[in-house]
Amino acid sequence: MRIAMIGGGYVGLVSAACFADLGTEVAVVEVDKQRLGALQEGRMPIYEPGLDHLVAEGVAAGRLTFGNDLAKAVDGAEAIFIAVGTPTRRGDGHADVSYVLAAAEQVARALTGYAVVVTKSTVPVGTGRRIAEIMRRVRPELEADVASNPEFLREGSAIGDFMRPDRVVIGTKSERAREVLGRLYRPLSLIEAPILFTEIETAELTKYAANSFLAMKVTFINEMADLCEKVGADVHDVARGIGMDQRIGRKFLHPGPGFGGSCFPKDTLALMRISQDWGAPSRLVETTVAVNEARKAGMAARIIQLAGGSVHGKTVAVLGLTFKPETDDMRDAPSVPIVARLVEEGAQVRAFDPIAMEHARPLLPEAVTYCHDAQEAINQADVLVVITEWNEFRALSPERVRETMRGRLVVDLRNVFDPPAMAAAGLQYFGMGRRA
Ligand SMILES: NC(=O)c1ccc[n+]([C@@H]2O[C@H](COP(=O)([O-])OP(=O)(O)OC[C@H]3O[C@@H](n4cnc5c(N)ncnc54)[C@H](O)[C@@H]3O)[C@@H](O)[C@H]2O)c1
Repeated sequence: MRIAMIGGGYVGLVSAACFADLGTEVAVVEVDKQRLGALQEGRMPIYEPGLDHLVAEGVAAGRLTFGNDLAKAVDGAEAIFIAVGTPTRRGDGHADVSYVLAAAEQVARALTGYAVVVTKSTVPVGTGRRIAEIMRRVRPELEADVASNPEFLREGSAIGDFMRPDRVVIGTKSERAREVLGRLYRPLSLIEAPILFTEIETAELTKYAANSFLAMKVTFINEMADLCEKVGADVHDVARGIGMDQRIGRKFLHPGPGFGGSCFPKDTLALMRISQDWGAPSRLVETTVAVNEARKAGMAARIIQLAGGSVHGKTVAVLGLTFKPETDDMRDAPSVPIVARLVEEGAQVRAFDPIAMEHARPLLPEAVTYCHDAQEAINQADVLVVITEWNEFRALSPERVRETMRGRLVVDLRNVFDPPAMAAAGLQYFGMGRRA
């Protein structure tokens, strides 16, 4: 079986490499010269654990190819996946589907025979219908179907998520498209990954509903963490106590500086707009967006307050810059507003991130100093702030942190440290919703 993948970013590249691993021939089309150049030279344009090996294997097996010739890629392909970006549209919060629609039109012009055109990008309800209209307008004679197959993988564990998904959602009206996509996903259904066939609109909405629900769960525990601080409770225990209830579940109950990344912020905003447009506004989603924005914007003020009301002239060590560990993605990372404000308030910021310092550099103030490792950032710091929970930070010894810092304040926005151990080392420890 042959397919084409339009877009070789986080989702397109991972999906392509995984499909190739499962035995499908995949032609990836990428327009970004740098990304394509890297892929053609065998380098990874993004960081995702295990992806380099999987891509190398797919290429060596002759099943995975990269190029910018869309017509060549779609020729003979049974399914064409569109995995291009759908960022927030400037000004109104809607998802910008212009890249998706442009790709769909290019595909429609290039097709030489029957194929299913599938959106893997996260797209607003009605996009599948718009793609079908474009295809009818551009190529009225063409035999083709449209389907929606939203992707639920998480950066940092993307390959495992793709290969062992909780579910695969496929929205289409067409029996023929169902057969093609059912065959493509057969290796996963054989290992009992549930495949949910739905209408296109349902599949489109399911993706936004899933991300918004998770964003709401994170926002809920963030608020509970704030309350724990006030009443002297411990949010870890509250999270455990509620998470053991299977109706609630343990995951996504870790408080932090507010959700970021390439998906939750834009998808909550888009669902908020979609539901307003359709006359069924979601006040829960609206509130989640507002609460999270305020949290991210106010996080630096909390650090400053803990530092005694000013960070002017103080050295602040910042550990972790990405929006979460195991990725190099800096999109909407909470570190960006936090570091900007600390620098604005006169702090000298010494930052370390295991993977993303080059990605972070253009987004952060020039005055930031980048360190080779966590310990170098911590040396002689007045304040230590943990923004991303990379595993290696958990291994830092509290005693060594205490010995090498000039000050004693540790602001742990991800609860990577053990509060009693930090207090025992003589550090002034602040964890999210925890007591030292
Ligand atoms: N990143 C995630 O964790 C994740 C998870 C699930 C779903 N999604 C969704 O998947 C979609 C893609 O996200 P991403 O993070 O992979 O984005 P990305 O920006 O990393 O990748 C998109 C790629 O598409 C390329 N592109 C754009 N137009 C093209 C065209 N006409 N032809 C060929 N290539 C083209 C871009 O150059 C870019 O490399 C979005 O809708 C996103 O919401 C992302």
